[in-house]
Amino acid sequence: MKLIIVENYEEISKLAAINIKDVINKNPNAILGLATGGTPLGTYKELIKMNKENEIDFSKVTTVNLDEYIGLSERNTQSYRYFMNENLFNHVNIKKENTFIPNGLAKDIQEETNNYDKKIDELGGIDIQILGIGTNGHIAFNEPSDFLISGTHLTDLTQSTINANSRFFNSIDEVPKTAITMGLGQIMKSKKILLLAHGENKAEVIKEVLSGNITSKNPATMLQMHKDVTIIVDRTIGDLIKITDI
Ligand code: GLP
Repeated sequence: MKLIIVENYEEISKLAAINIKDVINKNPNAILGLATGGTPLGTYKELIKMNKENEIDFSKVTTVNLDEYIGLSERNTQSYRYFMNENLFNHVNIKKENTFIPNGLAKDIQEETNNYDKKIDELGGIDIQILGIGTNGHIAFNEPSDFLISGTHLTDLTQSTINANSRFFNSIDEVPKTAITMGLGQIMKSKKILLLAHGENKAEVIKEVLSGNITSKNPATMLQMHKDVTIIVDRTIGDLIKITDI
């Protein structure tokens, strides 16, 4: 694992966007694995800027997102499809038909999750996967548990994730309790992974990810088994995790 400590959130976003740009410029047909949440917003802003300045061309790029809430339509402003359209897809020259997000309204969820994995495999796998991290170590919606699931699946959200994500909703009661998420096995198949984190509330969990221990109680610790993971954090986290202690 490679850890890069930069000054602040803006620098995390710029560096993440440069990494994505490099992948696309080497392979215009690249498959990007994308995330939602507050963390990647700055990266998406940078990508939009690069696209407007003709530094990246999304016309042949395909994207697959990590997860989607159950029960929210793409017109619901809290759905991850809406989020991605609003914060990236509507502002770059990507073809919407090349953007994939699990369908949280699918009648047959089992079929939807199977097809999602099949789709990713058919595309040839993810070239670069962007990840945020929950304060409990969840990545995508792979929550701490006694065991982790490899493929895309339906999952219950933990109370801590419901609480954390309620900041995007009018009230906590509106936060869906279930979601479709790519599983850890599928995420681990990505050729390259970028994990982004900033702010003191993520320090403890990042320290665990770098600890050398792997536990399903912090799903992100699994990433230690991947051969090309870069973690980019801000100075706040860098100072709090005191690298020399690890
Ligand atoms: C959500 C998403 C995750 C994301 C996490 C952290 O639960 N499903 O993919 O990493 O939130 O969010 P934030 O970046 O807002 O801290």
